[in-house]
Amino acid sequence: MASRLHAHIGTFRQLEILLAVYETGSIKAASEKLFLTQPTISMQLKKLTEAIGLPIYQQIGRKLKFTDAGIVTAQTAKQILQSCENLDMQLSNLKGLSSGTLRIASATTAKYFIPHLLGPFCQRYPGIDIQFTVANRQTVIERFEQSLDDFYVFSYVPEHLDLQATEFMPNDLVAIAKAGHPLTQEQSVSLERFCQEDFLIREQGSGTRYSTESFFRQQGCQPNIKMTIASNEAIIHSVLSGLGVSILSAHTLAFGEIYGVEVLTVEGLPIQSNWSFSWAKNQQLSPIAKVFLDYVEHEGKEMMHKALAL
Ligand code: PGA
Repeated sequence: MASRLHAHIGTFRQLEILLAVYETGSIKAASEKLFLTQPTISMQLKKLTEAIGLPIYQQIGRKLKFTDAGIVTAQTAKQILQSCENLDMQLSNLKGLSSGTLRIASATTAKYFIPHLLGPFCQRYPGIDIQFTVANRQTVIERFEQSLDDFYVFSYVPEHLDLQATEFMPNDLVAIAKAGHPLTQEQSVSLERFCQEDFLIREQGSGTRYSTESFFRQQGCQPNIKMTIASNEAIIHSVLSGLGVSILSAHTLAFGEIYGVEVLTVEGLPIQSNWSFSWAKNQQLSPIAKVFLDYVEHEGKEMMHKALAL
């Protein structure tokens, strides 16, 4: 049955030619559109006429007049060719999703929650590879400038970059001290008092440092910087060892039991910002990246609420 139908409607190429003649109204225009000679077009239409068993058009003067059989075949050709295009698109999406790579560069502080987002995504699309780069904010900016990744995760979207962003969830920076520190006994600590403590700060280029410094600048005070440490974990251990107090994202305390660190109630804190997934404005997102963005926007927030038990 299928082969009889095929014999009736001709080859895809013939249908393409028929449609071009039908839509442009002449063999000459169709030949220009398809980059074929006029005799080739006439010959293919002749073969198609034989396959259908009915004339496709009549020549009236210089004009072509399509017969009913020609019109219905041209309309069907349009549907068939459109379905093929859709099929092509769906197949390349599936190919993209079954074998491509999703590249995400994230500021170090986002490493506490992004894996909880990637886990369920990878289970849904087991064939894809993920390249997850974790670096401080400045390094993520440099990766953006070199177009190395599909998405870049920041808490403050850098204003000087030409990017689009979708906000994802809040990032609260809180003051921390070792359990038993005198400030943990106070219901509310003034900023002035907090600034007298030895302060541990992240390295230059860190987003946490950027937010902390802007906060102190806005408040008109200076923390008493004792040490610069290029790692959230090392800051937490330094706080635990009694080296000083600090301000870090609450995410650094959210997973794993970190005994012995307490959040202080300090005037003006927490510092509030929002995590965003960003991508280059001039960049065409890959099929995987599009699906991932949709996932982040529609399911990601709920997933984070569950994972972080917010
Ligand atoms: P950081 O950045 O890990 O570099 O401190 C976090 C952020 O972008 O706020």
